[in-house]
Amino acid sequence: MNDPITAFLSARGLSSGAVDVDATLARFRHEMARGLAGTPVSLPMIPAYIGIDRPVPVGRPAIVLDAGGTNLRAALVSFDASGKPRMEKFSKIPMPGANGAHATAEMFYNTLAELLAPLLPEAEDIGFCFSYPAEITPDCDARLMCWTKNIDIPEMVGTLVGEGLSNALKKAGRGAKRITLLNDTVATLLAGKSAGISRRYSNYVGLILGTGSNTAYVAPHATILKVPGLPAGGAMAINVESGGFAGIPQTEFDRVFDTTTTNPGAYTFEKMIAGAYLGGLGRAVLQAAASRGFFSPPAARALLDCAALPNMDLDEFCANPFTSFGALAKMPFNDDDRRAAMALCKPVFERAAILAAVNIAAAVLQTGDGADPLHPVAVTIDGSTYYRTKAVNLKSLVEQHLREMLNKRGVHVELLQVEDAPVIGAAVAGLTR
Ligand code: BGC
Repeated sequence: MNDPITAFLSARGLSSGAVDVDATLARFRHEMARGLAGTPVSLPMIPAYIGIDRPVPVGRPAIVLDAGGTNLRAALVSFDASGKPRMEKFSKIPMPGANGAHATAEMFYNTLAELLAPLLPEAEDIGFCFSYPAEITPDCDARLMCWTKNIDIPEMVGTLVGEGLSNALKKAGRGAKRITLLNDTVATLLAGKSAGISRRYSNYVGLILGTGSNTAYVAPHATILKVPGLPAGGAMAINVESGGFAGIPQTEFDRVFDTTTTNPGAYTFEKMIAGAYLGGLGRAVLQAAASRGFFSPPAARALLDCAALPNMDLDEFCANPFTSFGALAKMPFNDDDRRAAMALCKPVFERAAILAAVNIAAAVLQTGDGADPLHPVAVTIDGSTYYRTKAVNLKSLVEQHLREMLNKRGVHVELLQVEDAPVIGAAVAGLTR
């Protein structure tokens, strides 16, 4: 017999058992293949126009700009003869438009130009890691398709981000640079390649599971049917934009939460697994339970009045229900309320772990590589949600689910972590263009 909370969640489709792993994996792969062939599906499958085989020049610096969901970072990066990166003049400011802040295109580019100003005399190449869905042009500019992670600067949608930066630099009298735009998953993949140079991997996957989530892998030109005329025999990175996957049925909690986001109906997969959203999703679960009598009256009132629940607060509470940190810690909970809140929210994180594993497995299997244990597929993973979630040990859950999926298919992977992977990979891209 289920306890009342498990029964309440299961009746609404929120339990790890509710995910049919094999069927979801098959749907994911099918959607990836169709996207790469040019069929309009929920996975954009964006060619990056970046190969992975060019040698990285030794001792030449690149300027790196990294626009993520929370921070905007800049640095100067060069590599020594062993491929070891050296990062200098690092600086970090909040990403314009993050956390509900108002921003315009002009503010965005001026902020970028100011951050870059001290680095500009030092190098000719800019590797610009732009962590949003963007169509990449053959000369490595990026046309923003839509915003994610609750950032909203509408006038930038449909425009070229590299061109915008270049214009802002010229306006500030700072001259022309060669700018290479790439997604953070592609950068992470490249960072894994350059860190694991001595190991002979058969293919490379990049995964981000942080504020947002996404995957990239390397596909032979022959399989990129949506771009005719690519040179035979080559290969390039593909940004899957896996957060857009529409093949997972939304529960009523997902639907309620989705209406509170800046892009309802879009990126429903990302909203089930990434840090920008897990707190809001947990809030939807807690409020539904509060209105059905799962909490004491004062706790229920406090939960129903809660206007926003950052993932950090929810995660911290689930890991330590007596924490003094965050919105839930301030609520008038008795111990039964604490037990109920934990039991209601842990499944949110457990489902995220299974879905993230399916996402990685789909990318690995689409490479068609990894059958030979001598040459596993290198999966480089970056992101705070993956490494730092405490409510459940998300990293080890993902690994466990992933092994289950891949072992029975005879596919070998090695999971890599590279410090500052998006920054390092953006430097590689800028220098090897
Ligand atoms: C964006 C992706 C990005 C991912 C991880 C998503 O919201 O759409 O382009 O790679 O976040 O940062």
